[in-house]
Amino acid sequence: EQAGKGEYDHFMLKEIHEQPTSLTQALEGRIDPENGRIALSDFEPGTFADVESVQLLACGTSYHAALYGSLALNQAGIQSTALLANEYSVSAPPIDDETLVIAVTQSGETADTLSALRQANAAGATTVTVTNVVGSTAAREADETLFIRAGPEIGVAATKTFSSQAVMLLLLGQCIAADHHGEPPADLETLLPALATMPDAIDGLLETSEADAIAEQYAHSQSYFFIGRGLGFSVALEGALKFKEITYEHAEGFASGELKHGPLALVTPDTPVFAVFTGEEDEKTLKNAEEAQTRGAPVVAVCPDDHRAVDVADEHLSIPETAPDLAGLLANVQLQLVSYHAADLLDRPIDKPRNLAKSVTVE
Ligand code: AGP
Repeated sequence: EQAGKGEYDHFMLKEIHEQPTSLTQALEGRIDPENGRIALSDFEPGTFADVESVQLLACGTSYHAALYGSLALNQAGIQSTALLANEYSVSAPPIDDETLVIAVTQSGETADTLSALRQANAAGATTVTVTNVVGSTAAREADETLFIRAGPEIGVAATKTFSSQAVMLLLLGQCIAADHHGEPPADLETLLPALATMPDAIDGLLETSEADAIAEQYAHSQSYFFIGRGLGFSVALEGALKFKEITYEHAEGFASGELKHGPLALVTPDTPVFAVFTGEEDEKTLKNAEEAQTRGAPVVAVCPDDHRAVDVADEHLSIPETAPDLAGLLANVQLQLVSYHAADLLDRPIDKPRNLAKSVTVE
C-alpha cells in the first residue's frame, strides 16, 4: 500500500496532487481552444437537440459536482435541477420525453444513485451516466456514458474525481446548450482557454498553498463554517463535507446569504468562516463574511490576490485568476488541502475515516 502512495503519506494527498494530470486526461481530445470548440465525441452531434430540462442525480461529493453542473446549465439557458439520489424515490419531479437525467457517480455503484437511475429509465427519460469506472453498473444501465478518466481514487474522501466530474459536467452542459439553442453558448470563448490552463493553474496553487498554516492555526476550533454563492455555494458544501469526513470535527456549508437566516447564531470567535469568492455577487458574500467577523469569527477568504476580500479577511488562501465558471474548482483545491492538513494534525486515519466506505452499495 505504501508503494502506491509514492512520495505522499496518504492517498488523499497524492490524489489532490494528481488533479493537474486527471484534468488533463479528462480534457484530452475533448476541447479545441484554438477553434473555440468542444469536441465531445462521446456523443453524436445533435444528441441533446430535444432536451428541454435536465435532472442531475447524485449523492455526497458527487451531488456537489451535480449542483455545480446544474447551475452552469441554468446559466447556459437550460432548465436544470440537481437532486439527491436518495430522495428521488419520494420527490422526483415529473419526467417526459424531453427530460434528460444525468446520474453522477464516481464509482458507478452507489445504490441510491443506481436506484434513482433505474426509476428515471423506467419513467422514460433519456439517461446519461457521468462516472470514473468503465464497466460499472451505472455506466451499463444508462443510455449514454461520459467517462471522467480521473484514474483510480483510493482515499475514501473524493478529491480528484470531484474536479473531473465538475469539469465534465461543464462541458456536457455546453454541448446540451449548443444542441438546444442551435449555437454554442456565448461564454465558450473565455471558458475553453481557461479550461486548457486549469492543470497549470492547479499545479501553481499546489506549490504555493498556505493551507497547512491555516489548518494549524485553526485546527482546534469548535466548528468550521464554509460559505459561498452560486457555484461557490456547491464548493462551500463540498468544503464542509470534506472537512467533517476526515477531521471528525463539526463543519457546515451554507449559501452566503443564508448565514443571517439562522446559522449566524452559532458564530463565535471559535468558529472560523471560510468564504469562497467566485466572482458571483462577491460584494454580497463579503458583507455576509463581515457579519460573521463582527461577531468575532475569523474569516479566511479564498480568492485571487487582488480581491477586495483580502484586505477585509483575517486570512487569505490564494487562487489564480480564471474564467468565472472555474474559480470555484480552484478554491475547492485549497479547501481540500485545509481539510487534509487539519486531519493530519489531529492524527485521523485520513484515507479510511471511521464508519465510511468508498462505495456505498446499500440504500
Ligand atoms: C465523499 O468524499 C464521499 N466519498 C461520498 O460522499 C461519495 O461522494 C458518495 O458516496 C457518492 O459516491 P459515488 O460518487 O461513487 O456515487
